[in-house]
Amino acid sequence: MARTVLITGCSQDGIGESLAISFQRANCEVIATARDACKMKRLAESGIRTLEIDISSDDSVNAAVQKLAEENISIDILVNNAGIINNGPLVETSLDTAQKVINTNVIGSFRLTKALVPSMIKSKEGLVINVSSVVGEVPLPFGGFYAISKSALNTLSTVLRTELEPFNIKVMVLEPGAVKSNIANNHLPYTASEASPYHPIKDLIANRLQLSQIHSTAPGREAFADDVVRYALKRSPPKLLITGGKAWLFKILTKLPSSLVQWLFSYRFGLKKLKNIVSTQRKTN
Ligand SMILES: NC(=O)c1ccc[n+]([C@@H]2O[C@H](COP(=O)([O-])OP(=O)(O)OC[C@H]3O[C@@H](n4cnc5c(N)ncnc54)[C@H](OP(=O)(O)O)[C@@H]3O)[C@@H](O)[C@H]2O)c1
Repeated sequence: MARTVLITGCSQDGIGESLAISFQRANCEVIATARDACKMKRLAESGIRTLEIDISSDDSVNAAVQKLAEENISIDILVNNAGIINNGPLVETSLDTAQKVINTNVIGSFRLTKALVPSMIKSKEGLVINVSSVVGEVPLPFGGFYAISKSALNTLSTVLRTELEPFNIKVMVLEPGAVKSNIANNHLPYTASEASPYHPIKDLIANRLQLSQIHSTAPGREAFADDVVRYALKRSPPKLLITGGKAWLFKILTKLPSSLVQWLFSYRFGLKKLKNIVSTQRKTN
């Protein structure tokens, strides 16, 4: 029997949209969701069922789950894909931004999982795929709360996997490398003000946001999504799947000593340059 897959964050030109198309191609019944149905026009036109879900809202999640129950639809695979990114140094991150990132990437994914797992338990099987990030394991500077949220999502997944194992519900963490999408356009904004101690490297900080988009040429989003679906539909899906542009680099970085990684990132992201500027200023003052 065809498996029913519900995916969050399926706006046009993002990972969710490509996953919806790939799961459909693999003969699954797909329910593509996003907080704004207009952004799923293309999926709807290609015959994929769409449904509005804002994962940050109890009302929205409850309404969607009730609708599915009324139609006797049970979800076999839940893909918690929706997410947002922020930019900027940690100490300059507003509490509002920090809360938004955690509320979406961690609590939002948890909200929908919590709402759908009871029906998976009834069905005696299920798969939850949490879309994390390589930065959940190797945190880059200037997007600290995004990395914190993905790291938390990884921990959440580990606990969930153990607790749901008795019910034959599996949990897979997907850590995409660089994949072309709208992620950099949808970020929570940050600009170093002239008074900011980070002002001298403000352009490097702004560029950091584009990192996943500059290096996202291979594989394309479609090939990436096909790869994910191939693994997700295995009898025993992997606990962790790292794939996408530059995934190999992050696999290497996870093996290096943390002091070496810090040293590399200081050069790569302008912190060494900032240190030199600060030390020159100290000498001249
Ligand atoms: N692209 C990469 O290189 C990359 C790398 C590592 C991990 N990821 C992860 O992959 C996932 C998909 O990201 P993407 O690259 O496809 O970015 P994207 O194009 O910005 O897509 C993100 C999706 O999440 C949705 N979303 C945000 N807040 C939501 C909420 N409260 N409720 C429901 N949907 C919400 C967005 O909706 P709107 O369109 O309405 O904003 C959009 O549909 C994210 O979890 C991201 O962290 C991406």
